[in-house]
Amino acid sequence: MGARFIGWGTAVPDRVVTNDELSQTLDTSDQWITERTGIKERRIGGSARTLGAEAGRRALADAGVEPGDVDFLILATTTPDRITPATATLVAHDLGLSCPAMDLNAACSGFMYAVRTAYGLIETGTRRVLVMGAENLSRWTDWNDRNIAVLLADGAGAAVLEHDPTENDLLSFCLGAEGADADLLTCEHGGYIEMDGKEVFRRAVRVVVDSAEKALTAAGVTADQLSLVVPHQANIRIIQAACQRLNVEMDRAVVVLDRYGNTSSASIPLAVADARAHDRIHKGDYALLTGFGAGMTWASAVVRWSR
Ligand code: UT7
Repeated sequence: MGARFIGWGTAVPDRVVTNDELSQTLDTSDQWITERTGIKERRIGGSARTLGAEAGRRALADAGVEPGDVDFLILATTTPDRITPATATLVAHDLGLSCPAMDLNAACSGFMYAVRTAYGLIETGTRRVLVMGAENLSRWTDWNDRNIAVLLADGAGAAVLEHDPTENDLLSFCLGAEGADADLLTCEHGGYIEMDGKEVFRRAVRVVVDSAEKALTAAGVTADQLSLVVPHQANIRIIQAACQRLNVEMDRAVVVLDRYGNTSSASIPLAVADARAHDRIHKGDYALLTGFGAGMTWASAVVRWSR
């Protein structure tokens, strides 16, 4: 049994907010943001529903799949439009799906948690799953807090996973959660996102490297066989530190945070779509997809692209 990615789609708001624009209202600068994070600009606007629906529509079109042929929708989000109902039910309605639909919150690891869950569904008989990460982080951002406002942004990315009896894209997973670290990155009801950035940074590098190594071992793939590493897009320095420890040169890492900032669960599918657009994904190549986030959660998967 196998599960293959057969289509991808993304959506970002039109509104571009540059570092210089943020510097007009915050005690920060393009130089600080660029040097400490790698972010140059981000997209702000929309909602998890509107962005998720747009990304989902594009993924279905890319896959050549009709809405009626989707058997399950999993929408990963940290920022649902409402506490209830699940944003997935609204996106399913917008897309004309007639299948089960649920939200999943694993913070910035959400897309990879959704892929793992979809893989389990496919293993037990579900044929086609639409997975997506859709975020409206700007709504939960205190625009007067320079520790957070320069980092977070809005966007969505989606993929269609399909059962295949002969080919399999998903070779291994390593997921985890450590609730003892939950206070490092939080958002209370009606509040704003708060983070101990330095500590999250340290732990992020540790869990990315650890989960990546475990996923590689489980897949029987070595780091030098990877043609791409698609990491969660939080900070270029986290990506550099993790790649260095994994012995992967930076030219094999996909980086989109310079244009999109940190879009939490949307960041990995946004990065995969960017790699596809730049012809960096080829049949038979190995890739490592790896995320981490509030919880703390982490999720790595080794992929061999079948198309
Ligand atoms: O996706 C979920 C996970 N999130 C992350 O992975 C984020 C992880 N953390 C980070 O990316 C980094 O820790 C940050 C980008 C949040 C901060 O970078 P840092 O290199 O750890 O900076 P810092 O917190 O040590 O701050 C250094 C200095 C401080 O000033 P003093 O105390 O040295 O005078 C900060 O007050 O930089 C100051 N600072 C800023 N200055 C200008 C903090 N934010 C800003 C800012 N502009 N936006």
